[in-house]
Amino acid sequence: MTTDFIAIDGPAGSGKSSVSKAVARKLGFGYLDTGSAYRALAWHVLDRGADTADADAVLAAASDFPVRLGLDPDDRTVRVGETDVTQAIREPRVSGAVSGVARVPAVREQVNVLFRTLVAEAPYDAVVVEGRDITTVVAPDAPVRILLTAAPEVRAARRAGELARESAETVAAALHKRDASDSAVVDFLNAAEGVEVVDSTDLDFTQTIDAVLAVIERLR
Ligand code: C5P
Repeated sequence: MTTDFIAIDGPAGSGKSSVSKAVARKLGFGYLDTGSAYRALAWHVLDRGADTADADAVLAAASDFPVRLGLDPDDRTVRVGETDVTQAIREPRVSGAVSGVARVPAVREQVNVLFRTLVAEAPYDAVVVEGRDITTVVAPDAPVRILLTAAPEVRAARRAGELARESAETVAAALHKRDASDSAVVDFLNAAEGVEVVDSTDLDFTQTIDAVLAVIERLR
């Protein structure tokens, strides 16, 4: 039996994670947040005391990276070895370092093998896989490919709401910097051919979920 990829790409603050998780839950599918793997790798590089801007050091860390990611939408625990890094990978020091780690092509290839293996072995009919390059690189043949977008100011406001301790300006600046750095590696701001766009700028959470469910129902 093959497991379908439901590929969802989009920038930070587009609602990608919460929407993907809700859709997976609703349809009884698995859920894979690929960003958390890159975050866990950035954490791992920092934990080794290595420089996240040093491609060789990052590749060495990626070659010895015992990450454990679950596919249950209700259990987003991420471990590196025995260490539970679920909270730590959301800290600003990791968010600030992750783009540098994700920029190394050989690292991306290794991580993509991990994603494809996880999905192929998943005990689900389909897995909602969210990230930046799922529709284009990881699973270009997926039956459902969606780009979830939202206007930059809406994305910054949403992220500021999640990170209540930081000012809206700080969040907007960090988001902008990460978008610029990430989009130099993969274009996740424009849809590739055949990819459905769902723009959540004027949609609330429930409406966005419904829009994504409608695309899945139409295509799968
Ligand atoms: O989705 P999230 O914001 O948690 O992703 C963290 C980082 O991981 C992104 O800023 C990007 O650098 C990297 N990433 C990536 N490709 C993916 C998913 C995430 O390069 N498919």
